[in-house]
Amino acid sequence: MRRISARAHAKINLHLGVGDLREDGYHDLVTVFQSLSLADTVTLDISAEETVASGSIVGALTVNGLDAASVPRDAGNLAWRAVDKLVDHYRVQFGLEEAPRVYINIHKGIPTAGGMAGGSADAAAALVATHALLSETYPALPMGTLLELAAELGSDVPFTLRGGTMLGTGRGEQLTPMLSRGTYHWALIFFREGLSTPAVFQELDRLRAEGITSGPSLHTEDLARTLMTGDPEKLAGTLTNDLQLPAIMLRRDVARTLDVGRQAGALAAMVSGSGPTVAFLCDSQLQARDLVDDLLADGSAYSGATAHGPGKGAHVID
Ligand code: C5P
Repeated sequence: MRRISARAHAKINLHLGVGDLREDGYHDLVTVFQSLSLADTVTLDISAEETVASGSIVGALTVNGLDAASVPRDAGNLAWRAVDKLVDHYRVQFGLEEAPRVYINIHKGIPTAGGMAGGSADAAAALVATHALLSETYPALPMGTLLELAAELGSDVPFTLRGGTMLGTGRGEQLTPMLSRGTYHWALIFFREGLSTPAVFQELDRLRAEGITSGPSLHTEDLARTLMTGDPEKLAGTLTNDLQLPAIMLRRDVARTLDVGRQAGALAAMVSGSGPTVAFLCDSQLQARDLVDDLLADGSAYSGATAHGPGKGAHVID
């Protein structure tokens, strides 16, 4: 057995402007992604004896770490689908006939269904690990092709593949790099129960149809300028998330955690993506650590972590 591991990082949306529902069931977004140090690791154990000529090359998938019990272990898992997608691409493009059987392990550091692109990160890590394996024998793919395959797996997979700080448009898959200076520290609070992303988008549509909340936040110019200063106090005033209210409507405990963190001195408090993870922007790692401890002692959330950004894209590790 040989082993290839890849790591991919969580994301936070520093700006998440959500437009109207499109005919394809997605919403147009104007979003600013930043990857965080929090990460998942995907390991491929590559069989020396078994090869596969058709169908999935994945023999089995195991999961450990945070929320492991709630992660699917079958072919529906996004990491499993990512391996299959890349192998199929090599079959069509380069006539790949046989590939070794692989066994996937996912080590979770990112909460599941938490609004931090945990599943997408697993897919991105699985793509780069499988690409490392196949490109030993066949040509390497340009980043553009990997990004296209990533977008077919999910809207956030291209960003988790690239990492850093990016403007995302379309359904979030069209990326333009942005400049960000310095390091931003976050306290993250996770909830035992995740939120369904489609349900949160639907709740936003409902709130808008009833006139309860206004239209999309489309302007990112202030945020772009602020990111150049490296000043977290300035960044605090420019964070925006159109999915925050719908996430709170579906999960009232989120509102309480936001309040407790604000009172405890966070520079800013926001729901991460479609939630329910709550992210508190802090002055320093020390403040972030203290805030996580205070919020967990308060008993309303079951776990938390500190993280800083920007982080890297998906990459193979030794
Ligand atoms: O692309 P992904 O599979 O991650 O999206 C999951 C669901 O989230 C979509 O089926 C859709 O309901 C919702 N979504 C959306 N608009 C986006 C991204 C996701 O409505 N831009």
